[in-house]
Amino acid sequence: MRPILKWAGGKARLASQITEAFGEPCTGTYYEPFIGGASVFLHRKAKGQIGDAVLSDVNEKLIELYKAIRDDVDGVLTELMRMPREDWRERYYEVRTAFNEGPWEGPRHAARFIWLNRAGFNGLYRENRKGEFNVPVGRYAKVGIPSPAQFRDIAQLLQGVDLRVASFEQVIEEASRGDQVYCDPPYVPLSATASFTAYCKSPFGFDAQVALADASRTAALRGATVVLSNHDLPLVRERIYPQANGFTVVARPAVTRAISRKKESRGRVFEVIAKIGPRAVAG
Ligand SMILES: C[S@@+](CC[C@H](N)C(=O)[O-])C[C@H]1O[C@@H](n2cnc3c(N)ncnc32)[C@H](O)[C@@H]1O
Repeated sequence: MRPILKWAGGKARLASQITEAFGEPCTGTYYEPFIGGASVFLHRKAKGQIGDAVLSDVNEKLIELYKAIRDDVDGVLTELMRMPREDWRERYYEVRTAFNEGPWEGPRHAARFIWLNRAGFNGLYRENRKGEFNVPVGRYAKVGIPSPAQFRDIAQLLQGVDLRVASFEQVIEEASRGDQVYCDPPYVPLSATASFTAYCKSPFGFDAQVALADASRTAALRGATVVLSNHDLPLVRERIYPQANGFTVVARPAVTRAISRKKESRGRVFEVIAKIGPRAVAG
C-alpha cells in the first residue's frame, strides 16, 4: 500500500523487512509513535497483521491530516479537486500562506497539506521558528496527487485507529504484553562524532535517542516487542541499542538516499533495524 505523503526517511521500501523483524502478526495493540508517512503501518495493516492500533507524532498538522482522511475521505477528495492545477506554480505561495493561517483540521487542511507535500520542494516538511511551513515551491512539471481509489483504501485502513498528537514517551509507556511498537525516529546524523553525544542542536539529539532506547527496553520488560530503525553507525549499535542491554541487530539494509541537496550526490547509506523484547532482556 503506497503512502499518501512523500516523507523524509519514508520506509516504503523497507516495510517488508521491518515486518519480518517482528516475526509475527500483532495480537495486542500496535503502536507507531513516529508516524510520518505511515508506510510501515499501511503495509502491515493491508496484510492483516494489525488489529488495534495507536499512531502518533509530535506534528499536530500531520495527525489532523490522517484524522480527516479517516473521518471524511470524500470531503478531502472534494477539497483536493479545488486545489490549483495548471497555474499551480504561481499559486503555491498563496496556498502555503492559507495553510499557515489554518485552521489545522478538517478536509480543507488535509487537502492543503497533501497538495503542498506534492508541490513543494522535494516533498519536504519543514517549519520555521514560528511554526510556519516554509518549504519553497518544487521543480516539477506538474503536481501528482494520488488517485481517489488510493485515498479510499487508506481511509479504510485507518478506520478505528487511535490517532494522537504526542511525544514518543507518552505512547510507548502504554505498551505491554502482546503489543508491538515500531519506532522510526529522526536519525542520528551520519556525520555524528563524539560531540553529538555532548551537544547537538537537533531537537532529537543524543539524549532523546537514549531516552527512546530506555523507553523501548522498559516496554520490552513489560512484554512488548519493539523494533527500531536508525542509521547503521557504531555509536548507534554500541551506545544507543547495545547488545548488553538486550537489543539485537536484525538487519542492516542499504538504502539509496539524497545525502545532500544536490541530486548528483545521491548515495548508498546503511540503516540498522534493531529489536528488543519481549521480556528476555539482558543487562
Ligand atoms: C523519520 S520520520 C518517520 C518516517 C515514517 N516512518 C515513514 O515511513 O514515513 C520521523 C517522525 O518523527 C516525528 N518526531 C520528531 N520528534 C518526535 C518526538 N519527540 N515524538 C514523536 N514524534 C517525533 C517527526 O514529526 C517525523 O514525522
